Amino acid sequence: MVAANAGEVQFEPKYDQASEVKAFDETKAGVKGLVDAGISEVPRIFHVPPNTFGETDVPSATQFRIPVIDLQGVKDDPEEMKVCVRMFFEQDDELKKQYYTRDNTKKVVYNSNFDLLTAPAANWRDSVYYNLAPDPPKPEELPEPFRDMMVEYTDRMMNLGHLLFELISEGIGLSPDHLLKIDCAKGLGQLCHYYPACPQPELTMGASKHADSSFLTVLLQDHIGGLQVLHENQWIDVPPVPGALLISNDKLVSVEHRVLANSVGPRVSVASFFITYFRVDSISYGPIKELLSEDNPPKYRETTALEYLFHFHKKGLDGKTALQHFRI
Ligand code: OGA
Ligand code: NI
Repeated sequence: MVAANAGEVQFEPKYDQASEVKAFDETKAGVKGLVDAGISEVPRIFHVPPNTFGETDVPSATQFRIPVIDLQGVKDDPEEMKVCVRMFFEQDDELKKQYYTRDNTKKVVYNSNFDLLTAPAANWRDSVYYNLAPDPPKPEELPEPFRDMMVEYTDRMMNLGHLLFELISEGIGLSPDHLLKIDCAKGLGQLCHYYPACPQPELTMGASKHADSSFLTVLLQDHIGGLQVLHENQWIDVPPVPGALLISNDKLVSVEHRVLANSVGPRVSVASFFITYFRVDSISYGPIKELLSEDNPPKYRETTALEYLFHFHKKGLDGKTALQHFRI
């Protein structure tokens, strides 16, 4: 019953999301800063909207297994990369703050939630992004922990990418160089995440449901877990496999996925995106003509990488795929 007497009405505590988001952003200390300060409750700006954890959530033990492929001869050393990511996020706060920005034209973009200012809820995660190809940064432009290993890591990732695009081209009935010829393996961006331990993981999300904006993502995750993919309307755990890289792709459309917050942390991951360089408008992309027929007409209109990425960044991780926007 609502009290007739205005004096007795209970008001919700005042909550101004925009100003709380702004105050958090201005600390430049990210979610890690909150945890370091000893926070015991997840602030409201991180609370997921109602019904986020819905009926699509299944217990972790499922009959689903993610296929593991042994790509013999593709040597990598993912451990070293994870150590670098930890070193970046756990360095002196003042040194790290120099990279904190929302200006995507910067060579290195470190911040908490790329879509913080527009997202319905912030995620329990800090990230750092840089492009490695086709225009690699000079070593001194990268944060210290990443400098020494970048050239070699980029080389290896590009080799892996070339191989994967050849295999995928063949797998969908095209000539092996088809996807390479349309520059799918030309741009490489890397997004390193740090998910601090969360005091109330049931209230927030490490990364909201999304599909990546890349042609292909190669993900390196540590032993903590929390990554899930949406498969036939159910969330399936993707448990960490030591030494494995995860290839996130479903017929050249990235599968929808999310990361749960975890009371154990920090969790570290590195997403390597094969992506067309953000500032260059190049080829138009659309349904592959060789695969279309009267029975299999195009479902999406053509777009350029620039238009697509612009749309992806504008909409943020709002639970819908960016591709939906281009549906015919
Ligand atoms: C991403 C992503 C998953 C993870 O960077 O797009 O989904 O495990 N990362 O961090
Ligand atoms: Ni992703």
